[in-house]
Amino acid sequence: MSDPVIGIIGGSGLYAVAGLEGAGWRDVDTPFGAPSDALFEGRMNGMRMVFLPRHGRGHRHTPSSIPYRANIAAMKAAGVTHLVSVSACGSFRDAMAPGDFVIVDQFIDRTFARDKSFFGPGLVAHVSVAHPVCPALSAACAAAARAGGARVHEGGTYLAMEGPQFSTLAESRLYRDWGCDVIGMTNMPEAKLAREAELHYASVAMITDYDSWHPDHGSVQIDEILKTLHGNAELATAMVAALPSHVSGGGCAEGCDRALEHAVLTAPDARD
Ligand code: ADE
Repeated sequence: MSDPVIGIIGGSGLYAVAGLEGAGWRDVDTPFGAPSDALFEGRMNGMRMVFLPRHGRGHRHTPSSIPYRANIAAMKAAGVTHLVSVSACGSFRDAMAPGDFVIVDQFIDRTFARDKSFFGPGLVAHVSVAHPVCPALSAACAAAARAGGARVHEGGTYLAMEGPQFSTLAESRLYRDWGCDVIGMTNMPEAKLAREAELHYASVAMITDYDSWHPDHGSVQIDEILKTLHGNAELATAMVAALPSHVSGGGCAEGCDRALEHAVLTAPDARD
């Protein structure tokens, strides 16, 4: 059994990780183009860790222009086995308050302007994303976040929207009625691509606002999101530092690391 390598994709407000020993930035390229930024690689408590700022340092990528395929391909090529997504999200639930962390376990994908698969004509594959996150890695994230002092909700449905505008009041109410718990612009197609790449994937949503549905809170604004996020950066940093104590190698109940075993449709003799 090989040692786990933890990858972290950091969202708005999380552009670096503190405490990585022997760390440095490394420029990489992939068959799908360049990722959002160089990879920041080092060791945390002896475990290899690779960090990638999803929007790039200086926040250069919009949610639609993020090179999702290159990001996942770069993580895979760097040897990452366990990928943790950290992102800012709005909340559809009173109980999921700004400052709280939600360990997402389901998604509704409403994005439409992104490359969503590594596969295509010539090599056709259909992986299952019925259960899109790794249960073991999600539990590890919950434990690490609690150890770092965060208030954590385990389980939640994430509505992935295209953006870059926030939701209208009618959309916000609709997503609440659909049973969604949080909303963001970046976890799709990231989660689907991670499954195609046979990575264990977990999503940690850091709540920054109540989107636009809440009668007692004004509509979401970016300066408020960033204020909450910067306040939470310490919690995210503490969670990342605690992760190596909770992540172990090997398989998981979902079989994330074997997702392609029964997914490729193209006949073996027709594959280049
Ligand atoms: N990211 C943070 N808050 C958000 C919201 N309300 N909608 C979409 N993405 C977000």
